[in-house]
Amino acid sequence: MAKILMVCLGNICRSPLAEGILKSKLKSDVFFVDSAGTGAWHSGELPDKRSIAVAKKYGIDLTNQRARLFLVEDFEKFDHIYVMDQSNYKNVCRLAPNSEAISKVQLILNEIHPDKNLEVPDPYYGGDNGFDDVYNMLNDACEKIKIKLENA
Ligand code: 4NP
Repeated sequence: MAKILMVCLGNICRSPLAEGILKSKLKSDVFFVDSAGTGAWHSGELPDKRSIAVAKKYGIDLTNQRARLFLVEDFEKFDHIYVMDQSNYKNVCRLAPNSEAISKVQLILNEIHPDKNLEVPDPYYGGDNGFDDVYNMLNDACEKIKIKLENA
């Protein structure tokens, strides 16, 4: 079973959306999708209300998710680790035990804009529009990831 981890800072805004969107596109008996944050401030909490609301608009339920911290063990457990921005990339790679672990980590928008190193903006301090934009970016990236995974 291929295992995919989505990572952001708080694990309440961007990565829960990415988890929910990718899960909605893949068969759960073939792919395992989870998310985590590089910071622990929100551990145990539900996703941000605004992420829950935008996902719900598209028929995706995020209320079964709870925030958790990214752990070194995640390098063993997951085949692909998608991060939202450069800061997440640095924070995750800092914990990597070896180069094989680092090779699992990718900026998620590089799936649709190869080598551009674009970031999914953190919508936490912005308005609700930010969440729609983030949803659309993540949906495009996850569609590409789905096609890649199903043809791997
Ligand atoms: P996320 O957004 O990384 O997309 O979950 C954030 C949520 C909370 C905080 C930062 C970013 N915070 O500083 O509490």
